[in-house]
Amino acid sequence: MFYLKVLFYKVIMQVLKLAGKLVPQTQPFIFTGGYSSLALTKLIIDQDTKHVFIVTDAVLNKLGITKGVCNLLAEHQVKVTIYDQVTPDPSESVVNNGIALLRKQQCDLVLAIGGGSSIDAAKMIAVLAYSKQTIKGVAGLLKIRKEGLPLCVIPTTSGTGSEVTMAAVITDTENQSKSLVVSPKMMAMATALDPVLMQGMPAKITADTGFDALTHAIEAYLSKYANAQTDQFALTAIKLIFKQLPTCYHQGDDLAARQALALASCYAGLAFNKTNVGYVHAIAHQIGAKYHSPHGFTNAVVLPVVLDFYLKGSEERLADMAKAIGIDTNNLTSVQAAEQFILAIKELQAEVGIPKTLNCIEEKDIKSLAKSALKEAHYFYPVPKYLRPSQCEKMLTQLCTP
Ligand SMILES: [Fe+2]
Repeated sequence: MFYLKVLFYKVIMQVLKLAGKLVPQTQPFIFTGGYSSLALTKLIIDQDTKHVFIVTDAVLNKLGITKGVCNLLAEHQVKVTIYDQVTPDPSESVVNNGIALLRKQQCDLVLAIGGGSSIDAAKMIAVLAYSKQTIKGVAGLLKIRKEGLPLCVIPTTSGTGSEVTMAAVITDTENQSKSLVVSPKMMAMATALDPVLMQGMPAKITADTGFDALTHAIEAYLSKYANAQTDQFALTAIKLIFKQLPTCYHQGDDLAARQALALASCYAGLAFNKTNVGYVHAIAHQIGAKYHSPHGFTNAVVLPVVLDFYLKGSEERLADMAKAIGIDTNNLTSVQAAEQFILAIKELQAEVGIPKTLNCIEEKDIKSLAKSALKEAHYFYPVPKYLRPSQCEKMLTQLCTP
């Protein structure tokens, strides 16, 4: 029975792969370097924009992170409305309240300044700004009918990669689940990876988001949709993250390391935008929706547990990643090199304060968490190897056992 189901999932993945080829592939213009957020702002001004709708969160707004951009826009008589009500794992009401304010102010461009939550909320606000569709109506693959407002993105964390992907995740608070929305209409027009805005990021958020980017790159490299281009993006991202994440964690004001980590996150985003992710995300999404544990942090803890499962069958790919981070694999078998790579991930976890287990998981929820994780993975993600429900439950038990 399980083998028949796996065959069915593989057929779905092939159909989605063919459908994906019909989707127009666009990519935002990417500005990099110190104060590149101002270069992006000049582009917004040159577009003859009249009224910018900035989507951010209250903490960043209070810290004055939007100030430089707002001052430059004001100098050029471009009006600004700031919507700073984005919360972690943004809900439908966060998006709907933003849309209502945007319509009232009649804005003509959306600019996200913040982490993954602000970017995802901004994507939804931009695409539904003047549309009759609802969030539930566009949840899933390619359901957005109309082009939205132009969207620009200034990420302040290095992890989500959302600045270069066509996906957004919105939390359905009623059902304690997350809705994935995927459409090329959500792709940003331009993005700025400005390390100056990232240097104040707390060490814990740096670690969590850095591991999110690492998970994107690893899941992209192990994906059945991987190709030569996504492989190159993924391996470059993995190499950069292993090198720069400890520096960014210990010396947050190192601008060169911040810039490199931002690029790594962007490369990982470009990779998984084409390959999608895998079981780490599928499991982490359910834990995040149920217990509100941060996305990057949850991925970080789940990652080595899923890689242990992938090891048999994906040893060659894991060995490639070992080589990419500088492990001398010359006298090792593929399995040994793969094991070294998983060990290096555990060492990186320890270096940046990521624990081995998640104490939020309750035993009574394990069955339903596993069921939802497998449902998400098997209908969306081209995983290299398929999990049985009992294996997924075992992983979740391992994750909550100190
Ligand atoms: Fe992620």
